[in-house]
Amino acid sequence: MKRTEGTIEKVLVAGATGRTGQWVVRRLQHYGIPVRALVGSAEKASVFEADVEIAVGRVGDRAALDRAVTGCSAVISALGSSSISGESSPAEVDRDGVIRLADAAVAAGVRHFGLVSSLAVTRWYHPLNLFGGVLLMKAAAEKHVRELFSGEGRSYTIVRPGGLKDGEPLQHRMLVGQGDHMWNGWTNRSDVAELLVLSLWVDNARNRTFEVVSGDEAPQESLDYCYDKLS
Ligand SMILES: NC(=O)c1ccc[n+]([C@@H]2O[C@H](COP(=O)([O-])OP(=O)(O)OC[C@H]3O[C@@H](n4cnc5c(N)ncnc54)[C@H](OP(=O)(O)O)[C@@H]3O)[C@@H](O)[C@H]2O)c1
Repeated sequence: MKRTEGTIEKVLVAGATGRTGQWVVRRLQHYGIPVRALVGSAEKASVFEADVEIAVGRVGDRAALDRAVTGCSAVISALGSSSISGESSPAEVDRDGVIRLADAAVAAGVRHFGLVSSLAVTRWYHPLNLFGGVLLMKAAAEKHVRELFSGEGRSYTIVRPGGLKDGEPLQHRMLVGQGDHMWNGWTNRSDVAELLVLSLWVDNARNRTFEVVSGDEAPQESLDYCYDKLS
């Protein structure tokens, strides 16, 4: 599937300073797509080159989110909680933050929402839920995004990776599944980013929720085949 040059307008990346978020920014730039990075504080914006447009705001601040999404055609969220309580908790970031961002995006006319979620997100009994119910929080955010963005003229793509690792993109064959049946595996953050960027123009990425883990090492020309068999 080829992208027609110039057809994608600005994309807001939430959690842009994070390890996956930085890859989302890089892959958008790789494809020449205009990007705005949502950063939690102005100091953190220094991880980006001067050509990346910055919006400053925490996900608890709806007004800041409204400003951040204005003029964007899509949002990709790589937000993630980092503490068990407070404003960086799973309830505040993985659930309420993502929900608030999605609400702001719909209100501003954003047409596509890409979300980094997690393998095992539907399993309430998973030990990861000892960390502030993180999987339950992600599941609630997923549900909200699906409900909001499956409406007329809108779409969503939710990627559920395994344990995240760092490394260059397109170096592994990817294994995909649906229905949360994969129990373990790892995924490169850069490939998660690549899949979410592809979701901006690959037709069969629209309104899909799927799991993805890295398979054998083998250079890949594209990851668009991951979307071919999704239903
Ligand atoms: N670790 C794993 O093995 C694993 C496996 C599956 C899925 N995941 C999920 O994958 C996603 C990406 O993971 P990652 O390791 O790339 O994350 P990360 O490096 O921890 O980045 C998280 C991002 O979220 C931002 N953030 C957190 N709280 C915020 C707030 N209140 N307002 C605005 N921004 C906020 C952080 O910005 P600040 O630094 O400014 O707060 C950072 O940019 C997460 O949702 C994670 O739960 C992780």
